[in-house]
Amino acid sequence: MSVHTQNNVHVLVHPLVSHKLAILRAKETPPHHFRQTLHELSWLLAFPALQKLQVTPVEVQTPLESMMAETMCDPKPCLVSILRAGNGLIDGFSQICPEASVGHLGLYRDHETAKPISYYSSLPDKMETRQVILGDPMLATGGSAVMAIETLQSMGVKDIVFACLVAAPEGVAAVHGQFPDVPIVTAALDRELNGMSYILPGLGDAGDRIYGTVRS
Ligand code: PRP
Ligand code: URA
Repeated sequence: MSVHTQNNVHVLVHPLVSHKLAILRAKETPPHHFRQTLHELSWLLAFPALQKLQVTPVEVQTPLESMMAETMCDPKPCLVSILRAGNGLIDGFSQICPEASVGHLGLYRDHETAKPISYYSSLPDKMETRQVILGDPMLATGGSAVMAIETLQSMGVKDIVFACLVAAPEGVAAVHGQFPDVPIVTAALDRELNGMSYILPGLGDAGDRIYGTVRS
């Protein structure tokens, strides 16, 4: 898998990623297929998102001899989901990295203003010493990501990677306008936002598509 990197934005480039994104973008993909595909894609996204995972040397005895290997540092990283759509990504990350703790930040966008509203927070201890992967499928205006990063930084978290499926240029500019050192790892960088702050071409409302709550 290759990753195209520019200005601390890391875009996955792989035919399997393109294929799975096409399934997610197609409006006729039903929720069960959307969830399954998001799950598969989250495994692929986990690799670049965890690229800087801290490891420490450890002596291991193989059946043949002893060797120096590497194991994940303590405290283990924390995978933080921006509810509710973030769970679609973070569930996959936690399967590939089951030692990590999982935290949740509840945010939703007000439909009129597109501004994030916070309604829930549950995070493990020692956040200030953990590496954090913050996951949300969509980076649109960037309001939710900025609020989540502010919350984490106010707890002393220094090492944050933001992982998403689809990013809009406006969201990248908002996050990097305030936090240029936070890497953004994404499966796609789309064109722009529409008048309702939805990503174009995008995939629609990620939470609604994951959970089948689309209202007609
Ligand atoms: C969606 C998405 C992000 C946010 C992105 O969540 O999952 O959290 O919008 O938009 P922004 O970059 O403009 O803040 P939504 O508010 O629809 O909540 P949900 O996950 O509960 O559906
Ligand atoms: N949130 C979504 O789920 N989709 C968008 O396109 C924008 C915000």
